[in-house]
Amino acid sequence: MRRPFVAGNWKMNGSVAGNKALLDGIKAGLAAVTMTEVAVCPPFVYLRDVAQQLQGTAVVLGAQNLSEQSAGAYTGEISAAMRLDLACRYVIVGHSERRAIYGESDALVAKKFAAARKAGLIPILCVGELLEEREAGTTEQVIARQLDAVLTLEGIAAFAQAVVAYEPVWAIGTGKTASPDQAQAVHAFIRNKLAAQDATISDKLRILYGGSVKASNAVELFGMADIDGGLIGGAALQAEEFLAICRAGA
Ligand code: 13P
Repeated sequence: MRRPFVAGNWKMNGSVAGNKALLDGIKAGLAAVTMTEVAVCPPFVYLRDVAQQLQGTAVVLGAQNLSEQSAGAYTGEISAAMRLDLACRYVIVGHSERRAIYGESDALVAKKFAAARKAGLIPILCVGELLEEREAGTTEQVIARQLDAVLTLEGIAAFAQAVVAYEPVWAIGTGKTASPDQAQAVHAFIRNKLAAQDATISDKLRILYGGSVKASNAVELFGMADIDGGLIGGAALQAEEFLAICRAGA
């Protein structure tokens, strides 16, 4: 049995006061979230503050990105170890916004995945196809290529301490959600691909869906056999909505 997992990716949103209000709202409703593991992934500058506010709660902390390097002359970068210092457990790697806007290649994403694991962080590896790739019928090839980059560098064993998030790029922030059947088909593809290398690891792996998840569609999505929770963008910025999504994970 895979424990449901809901992670809020705040992206480049937040402020000291706004975060406090959001976290107060989330904390107030957490008692009703019994089964689901819950994480929030604020921007780097707020990690310490958010960690303090989450003390004593079951909500864990994640970061949105990391450097593939461990230390040294890399101006503007932040290492995996620094995130651990800030009490992070998870780190998102390969988000489509990093891939598309900041030009992160499959190979770089794989290095970031490796750097996270080496430092003891659990990577949340995002994979997903563009609209034109879906329309061209190449969704599975794209996902396979993104997974293969990590498998080649790190091997299947690495997935015992990782999470995968399927985020169809055309569904992110667009209000267009993949239908539960569309999402399930890709989740099953991911699980089967990894099962070909190690069925036990694949069976235990949590595969999250991300892309316009809302309280109104979460129950149906999370009810699919291979969807183990969600990576939530916009709806993670509203306490009530986020809590309702977390409850849908159970
Ligand atoms: P939205 O939920 O805003 O579509 O964002 C999804 C996402 O990119 C989470 O990482």
